[in-house]
Amino acid sequence: MKILVLNGPNINMLGIREPQYYGAATYEDLKNLVLKNAGSTEVEFYQSNHEGDLVDAIQKAYFDKIDGIIFNPAAYTHTSVAILDALKAVKIPCVEVHISKVEERDSFRQISYVREACVKTITGKGLDGYVEALEFLKEYIK
Ligand code: DQA
Repeated sequence: MKILVLNGPNINMLGIREPQYYGAATYEDLKNLVLKNAGSTEVEFYQSNHEGDLVDAIQKAYFDKIDGIIFNPAAYTHTSVAILDALKAVKIPCVEVHISKVEERDSFRQISYVREACVKTITGKGLDGYVEALEFLKEYIK
């Protein structure tokens, strides 16, 4: 089983950006946490600050026969029809993850374009949300 952990803009700034929402752990810590919990599951990571790069990564996941995607589209969650369309195109089971509790934040964060193409959404669990998404996908895909 191959899982892609895909992260959008500013997730590379974890540990620096708004710790009141995102905590003190870094992007490297996030990768290590997921790997520690991966077991025999093959995990790939990709982070980009660019919308088109994320679309390319989703399309590549199809050709690379990725079984599931754990995806924090970050700010593009709330704006990107292109990313929604890419997820719909590839039909790879995708879990939407947000580190912060987006439902308790700004009104513009209440819209998620990607949600309708995702099998599950996890919010407000910090980096543990990625581990929960991994556990969910392992069960969902098998
Ligand atoms: C986020 C929430 C988004 O609203 C924000 O733009 C992010 C991170 C989260 O993980 O909580 O960059 O997706």
